[in-house]
Amino acid sequence: MRKANGTWALRGSELKHLARSVHRLRLPLPWLLLLLCCSVFSVASARPAPFAMRISCGARENVITKPSNTTWFKDFDYSGGIPFNATSPSFITPPLDTLRYFPLSSGPENCYMINRVPHGHYVIRIFFGSIALPNYETEPLFDISVEGTQITSLKSGWSTHDDQVFSEALVYLRDGSVSICFHSTGHGDPAILAIEILQIDERAYQFSQQVSEGIILRTAKRLSCGVEDAKFGVDYNGDQWGGDRFWNYIMTFGQIADTRRSTQGTIKQASSPPNFYPAALYKQAIVSIDSQLDLEYTLDVDPNRNYSIWLHFAEIDASITGVGQRVFDILINGDTLFEDVDVIKLSGDRYAALVLNTTVAVSGRTLTITLHPKQGGAIINAIEIFEKTLGLPVRLGWNGDPCVPQQHPWSGADCQFDRTSNKWVIDGLALDNQGLKGFLPNDISKLRHLQSINLSGNSMQGSIPSSLGKITSLEVLDLSFNSLNGSIPETLGQLTSLQTLNVNSNSLSGKVPAALGGRLLHRASFNFTDNHGLCGIPGLPTCGPHLTAGAKIGIGFGVLAAFLLLVIGSICCWKRRQNILRVQQIAARTLRGAKAKTNFPAPIPSGISLDLNAPSATHWASHSGRLVEFLHTGVLNDMGGDGATTDTPPLMARREPQQTPVGVAGNAPAGGSNDTVPEGSGFGSTALFLGLVRRGLPIDLNEPPPMWL
Ligand SMILES: *[C@@H]1O[C@H](CO)[C@@H](O)[C@H](O)[C@H]1NC(C)=O
Ligand SMILES: *[C@@H]1O[C@H](CO)[C@@H](O)[C@H](O)[C@H]1NC(C)=O
Ligand SMILES: *[C@@H]1O[C@H](CO)[C@@H](O)[C@H](O)[C@H]1NC(C)=O
Ligand SMILES: *[C@@H]1O[C@H](CO)[C@@H](O)[C@H](O)[C@H]1NC(C)=O
Ligand SMILES: *[C@@H]1O[C@H](CO)[C@@H](O)[C@H](O)[C@H]1NC(C)=O
Ligand SMILES: *[C@@H]1O[C@H](CO)[C@@H](O)[C@H](O)[C@H]1NC(C)=O
Ligand SMILES: *[C@@H]1O[C@H](CO)[C@@H](O)[C@H](O)[C@H]1NC(C)=O
Repeated sequence: MRKANGTWALRGSELKHLARSVHRLRLPLPWLLLLLCCSVFSVASARPAPFAMRISCGARENVITKPSNTTWFKDFDYSGGIPFNATSPSFITPPLDTLRYFPLSSGPENCYMINRVPHGHYVIRIFFGSIALPNYETEPLFDISVEGTQITSLKSGWSTHDDQVFSEALVYLRDGSVSICFHSTGHGDPAILAIEILQIDERAYQFSQQVSEGIILRTAKRLSCGVEDAKFGVDYNGDQWGGDRFWNYIMTFGQIADTRRSTQGTIKQASSPPNFYPAALYKQAIVSIDSQLDLEYTLDVDPNRNYSIWLHFAEIDASITGVGQRVFDILINGDTLFEDVDVIKLSGDRYAALVLNTTVAVSGRTLTITLHPKQGGAIINAIEIFEKTLGLPVRLGWNGDPCVPQQHPWSGADCQFDRTSNKWVIDGLALDNQGLKGFLPNDISKLRHLQSINLSGNSMQGSIPSSLGKITSLEVLDLSFNSLNGSIPETLGQLTSLQTLNVNSNSLSGKVPAALGGRLLHRASFNFTDNHGLCGIPGLPTCGPHLTAGAKIGIGFGVLAAFLLLVIGSICCWKRRQNILRVQQIAARTLRGAKAKTNFPAPIPSGISLDLNAPSATHWASHSGRLVEFLHTGVLNDMGGDGATTDTPPLMARREPQQTPVGVAGNAPAGGSNDTVPEGSGFGSTALFLGLVRRGLPIDLNEPPPMWL
């Protein structure tokens, strides 16, 4: 039954298995009952309600919507963008009256940072709004990223397709907060009606044995087959842990060969963890009339992505009564992934839910699911398709490719197309005056295409990493107005292209590399002023003599001897005078010795050392109200050609070679499906990161949801 390439889930028979093993335990009946009670209890009622936060963007007051009495929190204290009256583009959108939009004047990137989100697995759903009935000219087209990973790029015409008025992704949140950002493309202003952050089961939609926390699943399609209208999970009376999924509908696959079936009966094995599918989903189906013809469903997709596909079945056709009467194969883009599927056999019964899941790589622009009957036609109740986005180590927090989307690379990162390697590279970091704290990581040298670094006006501590000397293309290095200490590493003298070096207003000390002093005579501009004690080049004080280790040991013994001599106390006046002189001499030398020691750079903690690394709740909380920019630092690893080693998952897929890599960037016409931004800037196999600054507007909802109190 298990086919090559395919992975499948078999909840029905798993349950039967479980039942059998309980039986084998032969527990006394009371115990068995207790056990059963406990398990039913823990699955159903005892489980605390999932975390749910719903935000009505632009609302002055919390809103409660009918008929489900759902509470939507106001976000009026949020200072970014402009609140406005909403027009509802679709019956799917929640009945809310306001939205928040972000004109270009508020910057190309605007974010909601939501704190106090418990660790967990979440559905994040963003409803788009429009301030007037949109037309082709005014329809806002923008990109959305969650936790720094782009999940959607709105396509032209979304506002006329009911089911395209929101975007949804499944994300693991581990740092107590979530960032949701909107990136303008210059075509209309991003306008957001509502945001939902709904916790789901930790193992929901787990497509492999291991939990892939770094992978974000973007919901591409959810279809309930054989029904006449779209429904949310709440309409299906679905379990709260199901994340109130929206099920679009399909009545026919467009062939004469299919028809609808439905049942009023109960469905077994539905609504069970981890996905809690509503039983009602299995009460309708599309079945084939002709036992020969295929049922086929095709979805337009983005090429070169991996898709996770979940197929739902329940044998609800009264004419099929036993094993062997209905058998079909399931093909995806022509590959047979499940062979000889017999729903009754796999689910264990009629009217019992069966879920199969598989992952496919799609190179073209369509994804076709084919049910190929072998016996008695095919049946299908529901289809879910998710696009897998960038697998990223969650630890790194903010993820994604700094150069994507091209129109709006991360603030602070300057990207350039490198024609020799046919890749996008970061050639500049403009992170001046960003309120950055922490140490400069040694890994900065992995950005080996950097020409300019400006970290002026931050609160960077520790020493200047000597690895900076490896960035041979570096022309500008501005580290002024920080709290850097230690000395200027000798390696900076190797930077022959260096034109500007500003290290003024730090706490640096020690000898400036002589090579820099030499350069000073030429055209370069250096500023070493306002430090603790730099020395050694023209314009700075001369440095004291450097003491060897031998000399220091000598001095140590000297001090000891002098001390002893003093304690013994010489009576000889002449001798005493000599001793005093010596002590003074030695004291002077030890002082210089101490100074020389500061030449050794402070050790940089190995691994990722920055507070910037994982922006914490406190980090965000410390900024309030106004537009803030903050930074996350991970490890940028511009590995270029040699990408062999690390075990960190690759951040991104390799970008397809482009014909017109530069030039089109700023003014790509928004909208057409062809100009969706290619994933991955081809930093070679791994990305990187060093400093990415995001513009963000912290939102701290004044009234946390009741379950928090
Ligand atoms: C999806 O399929 C994989 C591979 O067979 C399986 O390990 C996993 O448990 C399935 N997921 C669910 C939620 O059934
Ligand atoms: C919503 O609230 C109204 C009145 O406050 C109540 O009558 C109704 O039953 C509630 N509906 C739900 C689904 O809880
Ligand atoms: C929004 O609607 C309210 C009443 O529904 C109205 O008072 C207000 O003027 C409207 N605001 C704008 C900007 O149109
Ligand atoms: C799809 O998955 C395969 C196997 O896990 C992986 O090698 C490949 O890079 C993925 N492709 C994309 C576009 O993510
Ligand atoms: C770095 O940024 C600061 C502050 O914005 C600016 O004054 C300075 O000129 C920049 N340095 C260079 C070398 O451009
Ligand atoms: C530099 O500053 C860091 C952090 O403030 C400190 O741990 C370190 O000891 C200092 N190094 C020197 C050489 O003063
Ligand atoms: C160097 O920086 C200091 C401030 O730290 C400034 O006052 C001075 O003008 C700068 N010198 C040059 C040559 O730019």
